[in-house]
Amino acid sequence: MVSKNVATAPAGVFSRERDSIDPTLDLFDEIEKFKKKLNAVILGHYYQEPDIQDISDVIGDSLALAQQAAKTDAEVIVFCGVHFMAEVAKILNPEKQVLLPDLNAGCSLADSCPPLQFKKFIEKHPGHLVLTYINCSAEVKALSDLICTSSNAEKLIRQIPKDRPILFAPDQHLGKYLIKKTGRDLVLWPGSCVVHITFSERELIRLQVKHPDALLLAHPECEDRILRRAHHVGSTSSLLEFAKKNSASKFIIATEPGIIHQMQKACPEKCFIPLPGDDGCSCNECPYMRLNTLEKVYLCMRDRTPEITLPEDLRNAAMAPLQRMLAMSA
Ligand code: 13P
Ligand code: SF4
Repeated sequence: MVSKNVATAPAGVFSRERDSIDPTLDLFDEIEKFKKKLNAVILGHYYQEPDIQDISDVIGDSLALAQQAAKTDAEVIVFCGVHFMAEVAKILNPEKQVLLPDLNAGCSLADSCPPLQFKKFIEKHPGHLVLTYINCSAEVKALSDLICTSSNAEKLIRQIPKDRPILFAPDQHLGKYLIKKTGRDLVLWPGSCVVHITFSERELIRLQVKHPDALLLAHPECEDRILRRAHHVGSTSSLLEFAKKNSASKFIIATEPGIIHQMQKACPEKCFIPLPGDDGCSCNECPYMRLNTLEKVYLCMRDRTPEITLPEDLRNAAMAPLQRMLAMSA
């Protein structure tokens, strides 16, 4: 079973096509027109650039976007996020067209877990329930018993009988965090996110000395050296909700800084400081998420490509653990 994956993207196609965009067009208006013409919905993740967040019909974390994809009645889903997220939308909507503005928008966590090696890993742990983070390929989902996101992982683990051993993949840092939170002894696959492991502890201490009143909000894909200093750990939606509800006026953000656009919109009077990597580098931006641009959103709607496609047997196999997740997190 092989899905059409990121490696099949035609190199350079967008730079050639971008030249064909009429420079007098207002892309915001054009995208709105295409939404009506195609009966399309734009689902956008919090890590997308601000313009893309602003043209999205729904903005959310990976669980909210999967739930939205499961219930939309639009005929076309434009997924402004990364490949595995658009693939989830296609798995749940075989009859709909799912467009991803840049097919190269992958994910280091998904890449860190090749299906053949993962299958061998599962075989070495007979009797284990295979709980897999949604940041993985359709092939890996198809090998799993249950999918989770950072929003619902803890809730799902608490529903698994205590005597059932669990194998968790692919993010070891989220896995370690879940071991601490739930007290369960998870067998971990050694994957990690290139963005969340770059946050600098030295920069964090420097910022905390400079802003002693700031609260640290961190995504559980961060390493423990960051998480243990956090005032709140959670999914992107959870970090946003915490920032809205908490009375503090300053926050240090240890996740992809795209989320700050929504934080700042919801709380214009508060100050949000992105945690950098070492030497203040901007490696805290997800290089995959940032491949999508407003031009590419317009082009994918105009040309109705690139499209996510999946063999039916693979789609069916990947759908079962996803539907289990949706039912258990309702
Ligand atoms: P969320 O589920 O919190 O949106 O996280 C997605 C992701 O890719 C984090 O790096
Ligand atoms: Fe994947 Fe990390 Fe980017 Fe999230 S931030 S999409 S986990 S590479």
